[in-house]
Amino acid sequence: MLQLKDLKRLDELFQTMEKANDSFLGYPFAKGFDYEPLWRFLKFTGNNAGDPFDSGSYRVNSHGFECEVVEFFAQLFRAPSDDWWGYITNGGTEGNIYGLYLGRELYPDAVIYFSREAHYSVNKAVRMLRLEHCVVSSQPSGEISYEDLAQQAARGRHRPAVVVANIGTTMKEAKDDAAKIRAVLHDVGISDVYLHCDAALCGPYAPFLDPKPAFDFADGADFITLSGHKFLGAPMPCGVVLSRKHNVQRVVRTIDYIDSLDATLTGSRNAYTPIILWYVTRSLGVQGIKRTFLECERLASYAADEFNARGIDAWRNPHALTIVFPPVREETKSEWQLATSDVSHLIVMPGVTKSRIDELIEAMTNRKVQM
Ligand SMILES: Cc1ncc(COP(=O)(O)O)c(C=O)c1O
Repeated sequence: MLQLKDLKRLDELFQTMEKANDSFLGYPFAKGFDYEPLWRFLKFTGNNAGDPFDSGSYRVNSHGFECEVVEFFAQLFRAPSDDWWGYITNGGTEGNIYGLYLGRELYPDAVIYFSREAHYSVNKAVRMLRLEHCVVSSQPSGEISYEDLAQQAARGRHRPAVVVANIGTTMKEAKDDAAKIRAVLHDVGISDVYLHCDAALCGPYAPFLDPKPAFDFADGADFITLSGHKFLGAPMPCGVVLSRKHNVQRVVRTIDYIDSLDATLTGSRNAYTPIILWYVTRSLGVQGIKRTFLECERLASYAADEFNARGIDAWRNPHALTIVFPPVREETKSEWQLATSDVSHLIVMPGVTKSRIDELIEAMTNRKVQM
């Protein structure tokens, strides 16, 4: 039993988190979801260790639901029907490390290319895996520079290429074009190519954009990672990875201890997040995800117009839910938890309301007038 003072601390923490949740606008996390029907699962030490598609000796798991979620995204991303595999990760960073690990096992001698707008986890992955890499410049929109990629790749044309395409860069939500990347590499004479698509943010809704960005398996991806705790609204970090199955077979080992196949990055794995992602995908379905995206996009368009009408130079990439503007002052950054580097941004995720956006714009413009 907790002492009264500790119960009070829990209450205080809850209130602090609730207040912070209400005000943040600068990170791609949804709000206002309700998973009460799933709370009862917290009674168990759920553990999805092992390959979700294989049986194992520990059965307090949600492997069946995990497989259904992976299959949902395999279909959405046009994976070849007889050559896909995937699992639910702990988030986008694990997805990037895992995807680059598969790339390295396929082409140990490859050079890894990614743009300077890639998430910091890509840089971490190449350092961890000791991969020779090359940072490619980007266009002002945040999309990779295909000219610079061509120049850099021409220098490494005698070696295989592993390329990380951003399907929604962290700061500007720019989308690299998988088909153009493949064409650039083909033109410089590289035929051994592994294309890793980091679709952490846009993965769930990119298939519904018009025009659809080139990022899925039919467009030439070998690997796709997305986050579950961003647009999809899982209340804790998680993600989904999908790969061509033959690339995974290279790393699989049989493990007696779990009586299963070991193909995932971590051993013990969360059994709760697959249930949450199953709940989301089953309750929303393809149409629900599309509808939710369109609602967010309407609000993102409103926000960009409103910023500009109030004299703040804001813009967004086509169909992006991220509105980019000049770096805000420290006070505003802290109050609204706005991610800031050379630019600041607001991200309209499900649950973000017009009134909160109006309050932010009001706060920014009033302060501007005072300056
Ligand atoms: C494009 C991109 N990739 C990967 C990640 C890493 O995701 P996580 O924080 O879930 O590890 C992020 C996080 O913001 C991201 O924006």
